[in-house]
Amino acid sequence: MFVFGDSVFDPGNNNYIDTSIGGKANFPPYGETFFRYPTGRVCDGRILPDFAAAYVGLPYWRPYLDPDNHNFVVGANFGSAGGAVLVETNPYTINLELQVFYMKKVASLLKEELGDENASELLKGAIYLSSLGGVDYMAFSNSTSDPTEAEMEAYVKIVIGNITNAVKDIYALGGRKFAFQNVGPLGCQPENKQSYNTTGCVELLQTLASMHNDVLNTVAEELASELPGFKYLIYDYFTTVMERTENPTKYGFKEGDIACCGSGTHRGDGCGYLTVAYELCSNPNEYVFFDGGHPTEAANIQLTELLWNGTTNVTWPINLSQLVELDSTDVKVSTENVDILIDQRVASGRVSKANV
Ligand SMILES: *[C@@H]1O[C@H](CO)[C@@H](O)[C@H](O)[C@H]1NC(C)=O
Ligand SMILES: *[C@@H]1O[C@H](CO)[C@@H](O)[C@H](O)[C@H]1NC(C)=O
Ligand SMILES: *[C@@H]1O[C@H](CO)[C@@H](O)[C@H](O)[C@H]1NC(C)=O
Ligand SMILES: *[C@@H]1O[C@H](CO)[C@@H](O)[C@H](O)[C@H]1NC(C)=O
Ligand SMILES: *[C@@H]1O[C@H](CO)[C@@H](O)[C@H](O)[C@H]1NC(C)=O
Ligand SMILES: *[C@@H]1O[C@H](CO)[C@@H](O)[C@H](O)[C@H]1NC(C)=O
Ligand SMILES: *[C@@H]1O[C@H](CO)[C@@H](O)[C@H](O)[C@H]1NC(C)=O
Repeated sequence: MFVFGDSVFDPGNNNYIDTSIGGKANFPPYGETFFRYPTGRVCDGRILPDFAAAYVGLPYWRPYLDPDNHNFVVGANFGSAGGAVLVETNPYTINLELQVFYMKKVASLLKEELGDENASELLKGAIYLSSLGGVDYMAFSNSTSDPTEAEMEAYVKIVIGNITNAVKDIYALGGRKFAFQNVGPLGCQPENKQSYNTTGCVELLQTLASMHNDVLNTVAEELASELPGFKYLIYDYFTTVMERTENPTKYGFKEGDIACCGSGTHRGDGCGYLTVAYELCSNPNEYVFFDGGHPTEAANIQLTELLWNGTTNVTWPINLSQLVELDSTDVKVSTENVDILIDQRVASGRVSKANV
């Protein structure tokens, strides 16, 4: 399994980069529930990719950037808190382009280690799990106070355009099985309710997330018809998280509106900061959100179970257990197609042939 994404998927890569305190979670109380030390996960315990890995018999993630992490036969997790799709959104974290660059390095290492043929089999059978776009939409809404419909559509188009290119790069490396977690209910996250000073959800952020998710559905379907052997699922993180924030008790939580850890009306930020007084709940399992933007481990257990074996109303057209089981013989790798893709990219000036 190879993991791409932002803070909800970062197992601690940001511990190894120079970013502000806002981009890190390597201090208490992060990690208090499960690992018992702050691993860098923006959570009290395990994150969704940890549970997804466990379902397929892989260990919990070590950050790709951990210098002692050399075993890429199990995959790699490139997720980075604040990790954006667009290069200009957040220059301090590992953006999608850099995550894909790291993936290319891992693919080369695997070829050296296992030989071309076995590495190709591995890359073809692997799951490429991603959570992308949320950081870009939060930055957009911060910088554009009252965007028009056309401005929002244009922005969604470039975010999805860049995700599409990343998917094609991974496809060219031999990747075939893609699991896309869609953008969550950004406007209902405690951090954003708090910064917009609203009791309900922030409409602009909800609209941007929904627009993105609609286009993602269409584009994934198009990719499946364009690229032979391309298989995918879309996991509806927007709906599954939203349901829990709105009906916490139905899912065994006491609180879906305010986070467990942080300061302000919704404990929306500052969790663990030494310089700011913050509150910490006594039992994170009662909360949907651990901090202003990130589910608790208890919520992640439920969210991953739905990804793994949910019905088509939460993960479509198939669920993760089905994507894993898909016979690799269905997942045809046509070298001809890869050559065409590479030629298109070289012709458009985006890459040089030496780099692909
Ligand atoms: C590829 O995998 C097969 C089966 O596991 C193994 O027998 C073979 O030695 C591997 N090839 C290389 C080059 O490692
Ligand atoms: C958006 O603005 C809020 C409030 O000023 C800030 O806390 C947050 O970091 C900003 N988010 C992004 C992605 O720029
Ligand atoms: C990717 O994002 C950049 C901005 O960072 C934008 O100029 C470019 O058009 C986007 N690419 C696609 C294919 O949408
Ligand atoms: C937030 O909104 C409430 C009422 O909706 C208002 O009383 C309060 O002054 C506002 N706070 C800030 C910081 O704007
Ligand atoms: C999802 O997963 C389970 C197996 O884990 C399966 O029984 C179920 O039928 C799957 N698919 C759908 C569409 O519900
Ligand atoms: C889904 O997986 C969970 C955890 O393994 C299991 O408890 C549950 O029964 C499964 N549900 C279905 C419908 O397979
Ligand atoms: C999806 O379907 C299941 C089983 O039919 C149901 O329990 C669940 O509430 C539905 N979820 C959503 C988000 O509609």
